[in-house]
Amino acid sequence: EQIEKGGYDHFMLKEIYEQPSVIKDTYRGRLHANEGLIQMAGVEDNLEKFLNAERIIIVACGTSWHAGLVAEYIFEEFTRIPVEVEYASEFRYRNPIINRNDVVIAISQSGETADTMAAIKLAKENGAFVFGVCNVVGSSISRETHAGAYTHAGPEIGVASTKAFTTQITVLTMIALRLAKAKGTLSTSVFHAYLNELEIIPEKVKEALETNEKAKEIAAVFKDAPNCLYLGRGYNFPVALEGALKLKEISYIHAEGYPAAEMKHGPIALIDELMPVIVIAPKQGHYDKIVSNIQEIKSRSGKIIAVVTKGDTQVRELADYIIEIPETSDALSPLITTIPLQLLSYHIAVMRGCNVDQPRNLAKSVTVE
Ligand code: G6P
Repeated sequence: EQIEKGGYDHFMLKEIYEQPSVIKDTYRGRLHANEGLIQMAGVEDNLEKFLNAERIIIVACGTSWHAGLVAEYIFEEFTRIPVEVEYASEFRYRNPIINRNDVVIAISQSGETADTMAAIKLAKENGAFVFGVCNVVGSSISRETHAGAYTHAGPEIGVASTKAFTTQITVLTMIALRLAKAKGTLSTSVFHAYLNELEIIPEKVKEALETNEKAKEIAAVFKDAPNCLYLGRGYNFPVALEGALKLKEISYIHAEGYPAAEMKHGPIALIDELMPVIVIAPKQGHYDKIVSNIQEIKSRSGKIIAVVTKGDTQVRELADYIIEIPETSDALSPLITTIPLQLLSYHIAVMRGCNVDQPRNLAKSVTVE
């Protein structure tokens, strides 16, 4: 097992560090930035179905559901196709409206999640075209779907999903870009800019991994916190959810992720000097809005840990701790902002003496309901 961990103390840490290379594996042979092309067999073969889609319904569970939420923002902005994201477990039992012109995208790392599988069967029975985004090759979901694209992240052993999440987002971004090209919903220059940006994302993820020491330092301060709040807006709202999920999964600290502006409708009541609030505040996106959310936390004495773009000055003034990440476009930022949050959860869990790779009560794949 030590050999399999490749010199890392845990599979989770190894998998976090694999992200620059597995994201490359995900887009290799598919993303051709110089030629302005994206080629994915499962998408090309079914391009008409995607282009005729009146709606995309994404079904998934857990971290894969969070990747689906990021994809909702990306698909709607890039392709203008309406998207709904559903927990597979809810979708399957609520007699959902499924039309023949709906495209259902099922996201699953393991390809074995029972609820996701049931949602796929239901969608198929109702005549929808079902596309899978799976990591495990030959898995049940990859076989049950009409077509799909693998994430090529390699085996993910740590129960808390890390590299599966970022590679799912990579695949979904490529699909959205391919459709945007066919539909003409992005200008040529913006389309090319995204292709180029995606190609260099692994380098930026590598740079984001340099936040490890900072994450460790912050972990030491907050490892005994009973609660933690994660806030983000837009593309980084799902990242806030994912950050909170990572923390609760492996450190057993109660954590909540929230869209930053919704804070005033509830969570703000919890904020006092004992409450660490992790705010995802990159320069692109709704920066000014986030800054005012941070001010609201500060005036209630919350402890602010902010993930900011390198060189940020405004948030630095307000936050107790800052974690600097490289700049990228708003739409691709989840691939970067997620990294320090993974590291923060990892270090907190290690410092609390938790079993990082096999947290209590959780399973890597949930094959029963
Ligand atoms: C379990 C795992 C999570 C995962 C979820 C969905 O809860 O512990 O890490 O996100 O299942 O799994 P899937 O394999 O369908 O992505």
